[in-house]
Amino acid sequence: MPIIAIRIMKKHSVLILGAQSDIAKSIAKKFGENNYNLVLAAKNIDELKIQSIDLKVRYNIVVDIYEFDVLKNENYEKFIKNLKEVPSIVICAIGFMGEQKENERNSDLRTKVLRTNYEGPINIISELANIYENQGYGTIVGISSVAGDRGRSSNYIYGSAKAGFTTFLSGLRNRLAKKNVHVLTVLPGTVYTKMTLGLKLPKIFTSYPDKVASDIFKSIMKKKNIIYTMGIWRLIMMIIKLIPERIFKKLKL
Ligand SMILES: NC(=O)c1ccc[n+]([C@@H]2O[C@H](COP(=O)([O-])OP(=O)(O)OC[C@H]3O[C@@H](n4cnc5c(N)ncnc54)[C@H](OP(=O)(O)O)[C@@H]3O)[C@@H](O)[C@H]2O)c1
Repeated sequence: MPIIAIRIMKKHSVLILGAQSDIAKSIAKKFGENNYNLVLAAKNIDELKIQSIDLKVRYNIVVDIYEFDVLKNENYEKFIKNLKEVPSIVICAIGFMGEQKENERNSDLRTKVLRTNYEGPINIISELANIYENQGYGTIVGISSVAGDRGRSSNYIYGSAKAGFTTFLSGLRNRLAKKNVHVLTVLPGTVYTKMTLGLKLPKIFTSYPDKVASDIFKSIMKKKNIIYTMGIWRLIMMIIKLIPERIFKKLKL
């Protein structure tokens, strides 16, 4: 009687930080439909429970959920320790934009914007990066923003935090490239999500979370370094960056 060897393939898994973000929800679906198990981390565990049931039923995958607040760095160690295993891909979708005028006047809000987009993501990603470096593999995806490419009066507080995050990801990539750890910087233009709800967005240049998720998935597979999504934003930001400062400072942007 022939011996049939059954190899049970272990599914890959992905950790999504800020899993309740609209873009992150699309990312979770994209990975689910591609047969990845999911580890979702977000502030509100009750909402995560509902999201995880839907994903399990839809894609027949394992979905683990964890409460996670990026501003509570005293809890990072416990959070990482509690993971059943550290997934080899981490995607950070955490962000908070606030309202520029309020951010200019209210130091608590300003601090929240800076810590949520810069300090927090950098701290938790650094912890995971050390693990990936030691094990010799892993993928780190940071969702930054085109807002970090040049400071504009309409959103420079959020933008400056994203600029710092983009620079961090660049340095991390430079450090870990030789350690077989892939770092992907994602620079979305405008995207229809709850973050931009109520804002007047340029229709032809504004994307949807599903498109961003699909671009991120493809870019991880192709081991890309930096992506603009939509691609047209690369050109837009190139032009914006080329405008001389003496002209730029007078523009209403
Ligand atoms: N939408 C755009 O046009 C656009 C453009 C460029 C870049 N981005 C970036 O894309 C990423 C995803 O944003 P989005 O558009 O999908 O907006 P979103 O739905 O508002 O997502 C932001 C997520 O960050 C989470 N978050 C905020 N503070 C947190 C904290 N202290 N700890 C843990 N999670 C926290 C929020 O949690 P709650 O759901 O619990 O509030 C929310 O789920 C962000 O990094 C954003 O800056 C967005």
